[in-house]
Amino acid sequence: MQYYLAPMEGITGALYRKAYAECFGNIDKYFTPFLSPNQNLSLTHRDRREYEDHLNPARPLVPQILANKPERFLWLLHVLYEDGYREINLNLGCPSKTVTSRGRGSAFLGECYALKAFFETIYEDELLASGKVLLSVKSRVGVDDEDEFPWILELFNAFPLSELIIHARTQKDFYGGTLRYEAYRLACEKAKMPVCYNGDVYTREDALHIQADFPQTKAIMIGRGILRDPGLLAEIRGNQRPGREELLDFHDRLCRYYKEGMSGEQNMLYRMKELWTYWGASFPGEEKMLKRIKKCTRPEEYEGLARELIGSLC
Ligand SMILES: Cc1cc2nc3c(=O)[nH]c(=O)nc-3n(C[C@H](O)[C@H](O)[C@H](O)COP(=O)(O)O)c2cc1C
Repeated sequence: MQYYLAPMEGITGALYRKAYAECFGNIDKYFTPFLSPNQNLSLTHRDRREYEDHLNPARPLVPQILANKPERFLWLLHVLYEDGYREINLNLGCPSKTVTSRGRGSAFLGECYALKAFFETIYEDELLASGKVLLSVKSRVGVDDEDEFPWILELFNAFPLSELIIHARTQKDFYGGTLRYEAYRLACEKAKMPVCYNGDVYTREDALHIQADFPQTKAIMIGRGILRDPGLLAEIRGNQRPGREELLDFHDRLCRYYKEGMSGEQNMLYRMKELWTYWGASFPGEEKMLKRIKKCTRPEEYEGLARELIGSLC
């Protein structure tokens, strides 16, 4: 089984991936959060920083594109090819309003004819048609209902996608609610390309359950589970979990990279507090300390509190 780190806009960016790879290095594939080309065919500086640093050890890295216009998608595909990338991922999963209101991400799944035409057009491009660049898709199982999934799967099967990553929820489910295992089973049985499972893997048992129930699964992508517990993958793989010193090192690197890379200590504080909304789950009984971290406004005070909390681990 392979394990991927999920792309998470604002969280698993280049600096998080770098610190994670340096400290734990047990991920088979990393993904950038979505890169969204604008109508002038350009990217923000922030988007470019997601894939331009070839010294970042978090490799292999697959850039993810968010687009529903073939010309924008193809423009970025060629930019990424020139930069050395040979696999690209298309985002058909994002459920957030800012993305779906413009027909992108998971909303594109509801536009069956437009989506088919999009794939037909992009596969006419030489890079995809010749297989010089592989295209994988990260998708939900429908917009409103998983009944939509058989048709969506048939559409994916009509194109030579290199991999299908399924977050087993609909757009409407957002990030909660029961997982749609039957729709994922259909992907395992009918998809012509390798399938990757994504959604709510928080423990070793969760990962074992996916492997046992869906043996066709080639990879498992994990997001929140790793943010909550940076030692999760070591545990799933049957390796020794990182101890207090390794977790402190991970934390300190992250702080350092955010300070250096995000112009200023306040940005570091903002990012780290967001991370703690997940990581806090690894510290049961420490609600008081977690509240102090949440309320903290001074970067040095934050670093002291977080180090104390991680240092309290046995
Ligand atoms: C804050 C946040 C940002 C996300 N950003 C992206 C993104 O940029 N691209 C993407 O494909 N999915 C994105 N996702 C979805 C995750 O990649 C993943 O599919 C989802 O969290 C379910 O997996 P998990 O239960 O392992 O976290 C995001 C999710 C969250 C909560």
